[in-house]
Amino acid sequence: MTYLEAVADFYTEVAETPDVGLCCVQSTPLQMPGLTVPEQMQAMNYGCGTTVHPAELTGDPTVLYIGVGGGIEALQFAYFSRRPNAIIAVDPIDSMRAAAERNLAIAAEQNEWFDPSFVSVRAGDAFNIPMPDNSVDVVAQNCLFNIFEPEDLTKALAEAYRVLKPEGRLVMSDPITTREIPIHLRSDDRLRAMCLSGALTYEDYTQKIIEAGFGQVEIRARRPYRLLNAKNYQLDEHLMLESLDCVSFKVPIAADGACIFTGKMAVYAGEADYFDDNAGHILQPGIPLAICDKTARNLDKFEDITVTGSTWYYDGGGCC
Ligand SMILES: C[S@@+](CC[C@H](N)C(=O)[O-])C[C@H]1O[C@@H](n2cnc3c(N)ncnc32)[C@H](O)[C@@H]1O
Repeated sequence: MTYLEAVADFYTEVAETPDVGLCCVQSTPLQMPGLTVPEQMQAMNYGCGTTVHPAELTGDPTVLYIGVGGGIEALQFAYFSRRPNAIIAVDPIDSMRAAAERNLAIAAEQNEWFDPSFVSVRAGDAFNIPMPDNSVDVVAQNCLFNIFEPEDLTKALAEAYRVLKPEGRLVMSDPITTREIPIHLRSDDRLRAMCLSGALTYEDYTQKIIEAGFGQVEIRARRPYRLLNAKNYQLDEHLMLESLDCVSFKVPIAADGACIFTGKMAVYAGEADYFDDNAGHILQPGIPLAICDKTARNLDKFEDITVTGSTWYYDGGGCC
């Protein structure tokens, strides 16, 4: 049996018998006025963070959601779009699609604004998305790509890139690991399917995104996800997994490399009226400017400039 067959078996199992503790962290999922998430759907919250960022949804986007699970995020996306087929959710597991459709029908009974036609649930998988090139505004996946072995992750990212329109956004939430996961855990197919042993380090994960062609990556959240206990997992010491929410843009990669925004700021404290790095950044004295990590490395060399650390939150928003 290949690991992908083991993954299919596992998700057939948890589609038929919800596993409440699988993947999700013990925090309240996105709540909105007038949005009721059915109990059955909540029990199948198999995501490790969130991909539903309202600021990503301007311009009435079409969202392709990969790996529908119990349908919780499809419903949350539909809350903002409220039109037929605005959310296209694909999943290769028959019983998972059936569970999502059942849950979405219950959601329609509990939410007067929601109609099941808002979400089109279709057979399809991350390596073969049933959509034309350059056809969707947003691709989202939560807690799926971390399951894939590195070559398959490359394929899945290439598929997401293919179906996105230019400047489109890939919104992801996945576990990452604070140090490389040893081979005895990585080769355990069940742990991998449970999102516990396929995670890459932050550096490897973001590098994979850039290798797929995405020119800008913005980190929306980074927080503890699971502790793999040394004794239970035959490790020398405990291993912390984190969950990472990020948005990657299908824009060209600059000649000097892609931009990753992690919440760093640069502030100029010199005597001049302003500081210009001649690479597109003009700093007014005393006023912080959000910068990507590449620019942070360049500006950090100047004595009059303070570069602040990563907050692991950046959404482009500013005060003026
Ligand atoms: C960890 S669950 C996440 C579900 C959902 N995203 C959520 O946040 O609740 C992984 C989902 O991916 C689906 N899946 C498994 N293999 C897949 C593949 N190759 N392509 C697309 N989806 C897949 C599973 O059936 C399941 O619905």
